[in-house]
Amino acid sequence: MNAKQAAAFKAVEYVKNGMIIGLGTGSTAYWAIQYIGEKVKNGLQITAVATSAETERIARECGIHVVPLDEVGDIDIDIDGADEIDGEKNLIKGGGGALLREKIVASVSKEFIVIAGKNKKVSSLGKFPLPVEVLTFGWQHTARQIEALGCQTSIRKKGADIFVTDNGNYIIDCHFDKIEHPGVLEQKINNIPGVVDNGLFVKMATRVILGDDDGTTEELG
Ligand code: 5RP
Repeated sequence: MNAKQAAAFKAVEYVKNGMIIGLGTGSTAYWAIQYIGEKVKNGLQITAVATSAETERIARECGIHVVPLDEVGDIDIDIDGADEIDGEKNLIKGGGGALLREKIVASVSKEFIVIAGKNKKVSSLGKFPLPVEVLTFGWQHTARQIEALGCQTSIRKKGADIFVTDNGNYIIDCHFDKIEHPGVLEQKINNIPGVVDNGLFVKMATRVILGDDDGTTEELG
């Protein structure tokens, strides 16, 4: 069992019969979906909400009952990965381009469990370029306004084309190097017209499980 699998396996221990579960996006969340799928095949009954079209596809393949977010009330547990995690459990997310739905689902979850290999733990956020989801209309102007906050930007590409999110928007990756005040920056970016949301998840994670390649896990205090 590798680091991602170990963290995912541990998180899935919290999933119980009758719960509504948020399913994250990415290569670590993938394993959580697989382990939930195994439990479903063994009789576990849950309802799930997916944070991306890709996650919905994988979950259905695993036999998990997936419904739209508006068909459920609050989510009991949301399990998702992260690109960086600081000591306060603040996160950068959106490496897979799903940050908007991920943030919406996390915000209506009673418990938000973040799973990652221990290499994702950092002393301060910002080495990983911060993804910002923006409207396609005037995106270059939006990017320049974000740059005025002290970063360099690049438009997310998929091959030769600009990457388009599940919501029909673009992602601008913002190279800050070091983010001193994640909560302040999150709000400043979101105040720029054209920005839909950004990948800073501040004080949202209720539990962070870090996996190691020896199969062990530790929980961030
Ligand atoms: C997708 C995300 C992912 O959770 C994040 O990129 C981590 O992915 P992985 O588990 O593959 O490292 O935010 O938008």
